[in-house]
Amino acid sequence: MSKMKLGVNIDHVAVLREARRVNDPEILQALFVACGSGADQITIHLREDRRHIQDVDAKNIIQNSSVPVNLECSINTNILNIVCKLRPHRATLVPEKREEVTTEGGLDVFGYEEEIRYSVEQLHDSIIPVSLFVDPTLLAMEKSRELGAEMVELHTGTFANLFAMLHSSLPYSNHSVKELELPRYELSERLEKSIEDIKNAAKHAKKIGLEVAAGHGLNYHNVHEMMKIEEIIELNIGQSIIARSVFSGLADAVKEMKRLTTRS
Ligand code: PXP
Repeated sequence: MSKMKLGVNIDHVAVLREARRVNDPEILQALFVACGSGADQITIHLREDRRHIQDVDAKNIIQNSSVPVNLECSINTNILNIVCKLRPHRATLVPEKREEVTTEGGLDVFGYEEEIRYSVEQLHDSIIPVSLFVDPTLLAMEKSRELGAEMVELHTGTFANLFAMLHSSLPYSNHSVKELELPRYELSERLEKSIEDIKNAAKHAKKIGLEVAAGHGLNYHNVHEMMKIEEIIELNIGQSIIARSVFSGLADAVKEMKRLTTRS
């Protein structure tokens, strides 16, 4: 089996910082802790609305990271110009909608074919390899190859949601109430199909010369399913790692403040 690379998405640390507009928690500290704890890659998303990572964060992270930085971005011209100047180790093109809570679904590689082709060329001109964040379908693999990408990142959101619905005490997002009303056997069938789709897409992508990553909604409960798919060589994970870190760190944080606020 090939080695799996873990890309740690640290956007969520910037979400917390931006909620108060202070420099706490510090994004560079998150970078150093993640790198020092085994992350093989750092993933960040420079969104058009700058709701978390800012331009200066991207610059500092790329300059200071001891591991490759995978910069996610949309196909917006202004953003692409910035990304070309930042020169990350790789750019991952993702769809972006202003009103979304997080990236919902893969890139529409058919609807925006020409725009994506142009974006890939622009990034290649700046010697930046490109990954496309796409839904796990054979047609999307074919199209990604044709558009000139070196890599695809398979969107695992559908799988993650179905997995969480079946194990209902687990966190999930983006579910529809309609799906929650489905009988368990049907949820189970859909989950199996979502895993098959990822498997088939990964196999096909590798066969036609694409590297394969996967991400979105992966967590401590469901990640083992992705580990079984040997064509997947990289996972990008954010929310669950940062969420876990709150509880693995909260006790110490409270104890330290209690110590500082105790009068003898
Ligand atoms: N990969 C891509 C392309 C993403 O857009 C995201 C979400 O920012 C992730 C991976 C990480 O997803 P999550 O935060 O659900 O682990």
